[in-house]
Amino acid sequence: MQEHEERNNLPRYEHPRPFDPQARCYWYHSQQFPDGERVRGSWTIDDFTAYIGGFALGGKSVLDVGTASGYLAFNAEKAGATVTALDAATTHEFRHFPFAESLSFQDVKAYRAVWESENLAPIKNSWWYAWNKFGSSARCVYAPMIELYEWPAQMFDVVMAGAIVEHLSDPVFAIGAWARLAKDAVLIPFTDVLPTHELMMRPITPLDDSRINYVWWHLSRGLYDKIFDNLGFDVHYTLARAEHHDAEGGSEMATRPSIIALRRGSDSARTFDTAALIDPVRPALAPTTSAAAPNTRRRGLLRRLLPR
Ligand SMILES: C[S@@+](CC[C@H](N)C(=O)[O-])C[C@H]1O[C@@H](n2cnc3c(N)ncnc32)[C@H](O)[C@@H]1O
Repeated sequence: MQEHEERNNLPRYEHPRPFDPQARCYWYHSQQFPDGERVRGSWTIDDFTAYIGGFALGGKSVLDVGTASGYLAFNAEKAGATVTALDAATTHEFRHFPFAESLSFQDVKAYRAVWESENLAPIKNSWWYAWNKFGSSARCVYAPMIELYEWPAQMFDVVMAGAIVEHLSDPVFAIGAWARLAKDAVLIPFTDVLPTHELMMRPITPLDDSRINYVWWHLSRGLYDKIFDNLGFDVHYTLARAEHHDAEGGSEMATRPSIIALRRGSDSARTFDTAALIDPVRPALAPTTSAAAPNTRRRGLLRRLLPR
């Protein structure tokens, strides 16, 4: 037992940052704070419970992977969870699809500097701004995905990882890390799923536009089922929605699957009610849900990152 403890490291929590009204924030999520202030982000999630597939978080310890501006973390806390939020420690952890003409391919240090100043630093600022405004008790960790394999197994009841799979070059490795840490459930909200039982990953874009280099793979339903089955989880699917505000044509609603993986034999596996789930991968629903999403997102990110 002692040997086991010694082999595991604990997360290194960030020291809380004081409120800084002048901090340059990138608001990924729209938020409304208790003092009435509202901020509009790239995305508005109007129904947190539906976004996470109706999974009840009260009394659970939750890791929110890819927390961005923290909408999921702070709503999980509101729902009665004890929350740890996680984002990348450094820009070294972000991988972009290689294209000969991309900055991330030609000059990785210059690309990291742009990503740090335009994305990672201001998104972290937004999380701390919101943390202070909410008077949150959530803890925050900035760590590379591989480090999660060093933390004690099943140290959280629930791991949530919304809208991040698409940004990872190595998503299966990351899913393994999340499953290892989750005693009850892994929730992967708002993430497209290829509607096939084959074991496959497919590039999200046709790979003919080097500007769209920050998304990688769609995984199939068969692959999610198989990975999780190997790790002792059963998988359910439902539909979630969020409104995107950065598209050139104005705000638009997007609908994508949310994945709910329940550890077999856990309390959640026994009590989770699947009756209200809307299975998005049924053939009749699949084409509209998985085809529309990448187009709506890339315009927003592109606008932020590319010179005008
Ligand atoms: C698209 S946002 C998703 C925000 C939120 N989870 C949701 O569902 O709305 C992706 C988040 O994942 C983070 N991220 C991307 N790659 C990462 C990596 N390799 N390690 C840790 N965080 C990462 C980004 O910094 C960002 O905060």
